[in-house]
Formats: sequence, C-alpha cells, structure tokens
Amino acid sequence: MITFEKAVKFIGEIEVPSDKSITHRALILGSMAEGVTLINKPLLSTDTLATLNAFEFMGVDVMNEITRFTVRSDGYKKFKEPLNVINCMNSGTTTRLLAGVLSPSKYTSILTGDASLIKRPMGRVIKPLSMMGADIRARVDNNFLPMTIHPSKMFSTKIESEVNSAQVKSAVLLAGLQLEGETTYIEKVVTRDHTENMLKRFGADLKVDGNDISVKGVDSLSAQSFTVPGDFSSAAYYIALALIFEGSDITVKDVGLNKTRTGLLTVLKSLGLVIDIDMKDDAFEPYGDIRIKHQKLKGGSVTGDIIANMIDEIPVLAVSALFSEAPVEIRNAKELRVKESDRISAIVSNFKALGAKIEEFDDGMKIYPLEKINKGAKLKSYHDHRIAMINIILAKKFGIDILLDDIDCLNVSYPEFIVDIISLEEV
Ligand code: S3P
Repeated sequence: MITFEKAVKFIGEIEVPSDKSITHRALILGSMAEGVTLINKPLLSTDTLATLNAFEFMGVDVMNEITRFTVRSDGYKKFKEPLNVINCMNSGTTTRLLAGVLSPSKYTSILTGDASLIKRPMGRVIKPLSMMGADIRARVDNNFLPMTIHPSKMFSTKIESEVNSAQVKSAVLLAGLQLEGETTYIEKVVTRDHTENMLKRFGADLKVDGNDISVKGVDSLSAQSFTVPGDFSSAAYYIALALIFEGSDITVKDVGLNKTRTGLLTVLKSLGLVIDIDMKDDAFEPYGDIRIKHQKLKGGSVTGDIIANMIDEIPVLAVSALFSEAPVEIRNAKELRVKESDRISAIVSNFKALGAKIEEFDDGMKIYPLEKINKGAKLKSYHDHRIAMINIILAKKFGIDILLDDIDCLNVSYPEFIVDIISLEEV
C-alpha cells in the first residue's frame, strides 16, 4: 500500500512526458520508411517500447538513446519474418496499428498482450481489414488476442467507420499505404489525426476531405526527423490539480495542442473556465504552453461528438467534478468501458469508496460534488495508468487517509508522475 502526504497547492512550470500517440506513429512510419529517421524526445514508456520491440523483431534497427530514437530501416517491404509471437504488452495502439501494418505482409504474424489487452476488443480492426481482404483469425468470434495474421491478397477500397476510434482509422490507412490504388476511410466523427499528420510528413499521398481520408499505396517512404511535443493527456492531470487545490497556478510547457486531442479545453471553456494558451507552433503537430490557475468548475453536461476528442481525459474531468459547484454529467462515453480497464466502472467504484455520490450509466456517469470523505478509503488502479493518476491526485488531496494499490501501471504513459507533481507542491 502506498500513502501520501496531504498537499496544499501546486505552483510552477512543468514539462510533461512526450506524446504517446505521436511516438507510436513515429516509430511505425520511421520503420516503414527507408533511411534514418530521428525521433527527438520520444516517450519512453512500456507502451511505446512495445512498438519499438515489435519493429526490432522484424529487423528494423532502433537505437534508443533515451532522449532520441534513431530508426534505421530498409523500408516496409524488407521487414523480416517475425519468428515468434509479438507481445504488445498493455498497448492497444501497438496492437491495432500493427494489425494494419502486418495484414498485407507476406509473412504470418501472431500478436498477443497482457491480461488487460487480451480482454480488449480487436474485432473493430479485424473487421475493416478483412473487408480489404485480410486473413486474420482471433479468439472468441474473431475479437480477442492472440490474433494470427495470415498472408492474403488485400485490395484498396472504401471503409466506413463503425466505432469512433483513431486506432481503427490508423490500421486501415497503414494497410492502405501498402496496397495498389486508393484506400478511403470515412469517419463519423473526426478522431485524433496524428496518423494523417505523420503520413503527410513522410511524404505519403494523403487527402483529407471533411471526414473522408484517402491514402494511395506507395512502394517506399523517405525517412524524417522531428521532435515529439508533450502529451496533452499527461498535461491534463495538472489541469485537475489546479482545479482541485486552491491557490494553485500551473504552467505546462511545450505540450501538444492538436485540436483533435484538446476537447477537454473546449469543454472546460464552455463550463466557464479560463485557461491561457500560448501556441508556439501549429505546423506539423501544434504545441504550446498552457497555464491554469485555481478556479471552481461549474457543473454541466458533457456529451456528443466532443467526447471522441477527450476520451482519455474523462478520468481527469471526473476527478475535477468531485470538487465542482454542481454535478457534472458525462454521456456518450461508452468507449471508456473498453480502455485499459472499464473506466466507468473503475471511477464509479473508487468514487463510491471515497464517499461520493455518483450515478452510473451504460455510457457515462453523473458525479456530484464531494461532501464528506470516508477516511481510510482504498482506491484501486485496476492496473490502469489513467485511473492510478487520478487516485494519486485524490491521495494528495486527502493525505494518508487514502490508500492506493499498485502504481506500476504509471510506466505505461507517465513513469515520473509522482516525482513531477511533488516538484510543484508548495507547503
Ligand atoms: C489512441 C487512440 C484512442 C486513445 C488511446 C490512444 C491512439 O483509442 O484512447 O489511448 O493513439 O490512436 P481509440 O482509437 O480506441 O479511441
């Protein structure tokens, strides 16, 4: 069990770890391209290392110099046969994007993952890839890992999204990139567009027309160099700290501000909050500084398409809602049930244990301002990094009364989270 000293407020500037989604894509396209790709400031975490290891396994040379990955590849056509099972560990992004990369391959590959990943749905990528001719077989109605990808004759076509997921879109585009002709993916709602940005950066022939994204097959891509901005999803925990601890004033430097990721900022602004944004560059992947001072979150309802652009930040909104002036209702967020844990159920049971009033819906929850806490409440991470981080914030709010179980899962996206928040603590 881990316990924490109660904090008063958090003040200062911080840089958060680099963006997880962008690091995955940089490794993937750097491996698919020919030449030497330099990825400056990559995220070093168990998730991104799962992607790195997978490509090393297929003969790509990746030098991990901690603050830089140097990727040397002869291009996707020269990938070596994966002679053993590829373990994607806890990473849904690794699995689903790799399914797209590997489905047109001439080799058979087998993907699996940890106890959480093997319970997450993979039918969402298997189905569209199969519509493009892929031959993929998976456990229980072709939905769960391990999955085996067999060689097949794939073809370019149009795919309409059935689930709002950037991972599914990316899988289709990464397969399409290797096929003759043009592959089009039609999204219902615009999801994070890092794959599109990265494909353009690597010189792919990509067209975006509203919600339709088309990519043409290419024989080769050329290597690139770039710097990965901070992860907005990690920065979001500092927004929660500022909203929860009176007197706080926090600036997060050089954080990714791609609009398809910052739905939380849009929602908080619509709920009356003031957040200063200093945009530094909005070319390849927009980034800048965000500054937030303590203010009280007003209640309200958060639903609709915006949820797709803040899906990973719902735990942050939920923990902030415990300290708002009125209840906050979150709907249209059923996808939370198939993340690293069932995040709706995890949040509801932890908040109940804490003494909060909270209603659970199939697609969300309604959180009431916290009136009194159960001393000695035990908060569980469910081995989910985003749940562990909001639990740590609650533990800092209420001190040693709150007991936490494991925090190893922080390694998935933000290994230094505790050290970093403590560095901003003012006594
Ligand atoms: C991600 C997309 C999102 C997100 C995940 C990372 C990505 O998942 O929740 O943490 O890098 O493409 P979905 O595509 O399943 O919505």
